[in-house]
Amino acid sequence: MSKGLVFIADDDAAIRTVVSQALSRSGFEVRVTSNLATLWRWVSAGEGDLVVTDVMMPDGDAFEYLPKFRRSRPELPVIVMSAQNTFMTAIRASEHGAYEYLPKPFDLQQLIAIAERAVSEPRQGREQVETSQRPQEMPLVGRSAAMQDVYRVLARLMQTDLTLLISGESGTGKELVARALHEYGKRKNGPFVAINMAAIPRDLIESELFGHEKGAFTGALTRSSGRFEQAEGGTLFLDEIGDMPMEAQTRLLRVLQQGEYTTVGGRTPIRTDVRIVAATNKDLRTAIQQGQFREDLFFRLNVVPLRLPGLRERREDIADLVEHFLNLNEKNGLGRKVIDASGIEAMRRYDWPGNVRELENLILRLSALYSQDTISGETIRQELSTGESAPAPAMGGESFADISLATENWLTRHFSHHAGGDAPTGLYRDVLRKLEKPLIAATLAYTRGNQIRAADVLGINRNTLRKKIRELDLDPHR
Ligand SMILES: Nc1ncnc2c1ncn2[C@@H]1O[C@H](COP(=O)(O)OP(=O)(O)OP(=O)(O)O)[C@@H](O)[C@H]1O
Ligand SMILES: [Mg+2]
Repeated sequence: MSKGLVFIADDDAAIRTVVSQALSRSGFEVRVTSNLATLWRWVSAGEGDLVVTDVMMPDGDAFEYLPKFRRSRPELPVIVMSAQNTFMTAIRASEHGAYEYLPKPFDLQQLIAIAERAVSEPRQGREQVETSQRPQEMPLVGRSAAMQDVYRVLARLMQTDLTLLISGESGTGKELVARALHEYGKRKNGPFVAINMAAIPRDLIESELFGHEKGAFTGALTRSSGRFEQAEGGTLFLDEIGDMPMEAQTRLLRVLQQGEYTTVGGRTPIRTDVRIVAATNKDLRTAIQQGQFREDLFFRLNVVPLRLPGLRERREDIADLVEHFLNLNEKNGLGRKVIDASGIEAMRRYDWPGNVRELENLILRLSALYSQDTISGETIRQELSTGESAPAPAMGGESFADISLATENWLTRHFSHHAGGDAPTGLYRDVLRKLEKPLIAATLAYTRGNQIRAADVLGINRNTLRKKIRELDLDPHR
């Protein structure tokens, strides 16, 4: 028995052939066309169970047809395939009520699975979204396969309220993705409120999230609203969720389960209508094993997991990103630079421990500090080997692994620079010194020059600390 009738529209004969063969082999009846007018004739005649269509065709743009399809056949699922693999294509597909968006090239098995799901799920008319007010610029840059996966998940989530957990190394765009999801989603007219768990003293997190009543604790002089209240009707972005204290996790879990919360010191439950997007650069599964993160909360948040790839996993996006940041800098009055092919190549060879943020900072330095208009590989290599572009390792949020990685990258570059065997001696001492100085200086700054406390935080003897301060020529009171 046939699984259903599929209309396939694509102006590329090769794609028509592989798609129709794959679907008919898995039990669908198929009908193929190379233009949208024919497709529309079939659809409006009331036949077919599924449409699989390309976007740009000789007689038009499939997105212009989708509203007509929906008006005449609201229950008919449409799978959009496109080779224009940008974030906006994914967004348009989602806004036009496409059932799924498949960037080309895609896996035929995946298409078959989606087609089977599309024809077997209960048919509901898919909502169309008001598209007039969304911002037109493209927030997420990159067309790599790794980013296509991200766009597909985002497109699917855009018109829902599902909770999302974004994971990824520092600087991969977690906050940017959370904002894009809000700005292009159905809550775009509501507020976007962000709260960073790593940046707030632990004992204030609950009051920050849920607000407090006057007199709820020492120092609570007036009633104060929390982020949940501020985000009402919109999106609440819980950044660095892995740093949330246990008690606050318990409370958050209850809110997610019950859809209501009470303020600190308050009794009346308040209903909440917020979309939760959480982000982490830690591996929460490890945190769970170590008893630092509630497993049940993890499952609540991880309804849809989204992992953002590190920049080194998508080096093919570097040229697009460079272009994007050069444009931004030009708009900000920094003048127009050109980075030549050797420059792009040098960037593609680098490992980017600080990911897109590190690249963004590099381009900013190039735009601001260099007088020449064309930047070559030589300059890029110099800039990248000074190490200044590496993000300052913050113990709270970032993983220790970043330090090892940065050291490793530096050493790789160092030795390739001295490939002729002419590396200077004293490397061990030099490297440790490079680590020691910021380690001690930052700890002293953290303890505001209190050496007893600094020695304690560092876990070294006070006399050792004093000796180091002298040796490294640090000003302990700065
Ligand atoms: N795909 C992208 N296209 C354009 N800009 C990007 C992209 N990804 C990241 N950026 C830019 O890189 C910078 C870092 O992004 P973001 O702050 O979202 O990273 P993050 O993952 O939240 O980092 P952290 O874990 O350090 O908080 C931002 O300026 C952002 O605009
Ligand atoms: Mg962030």
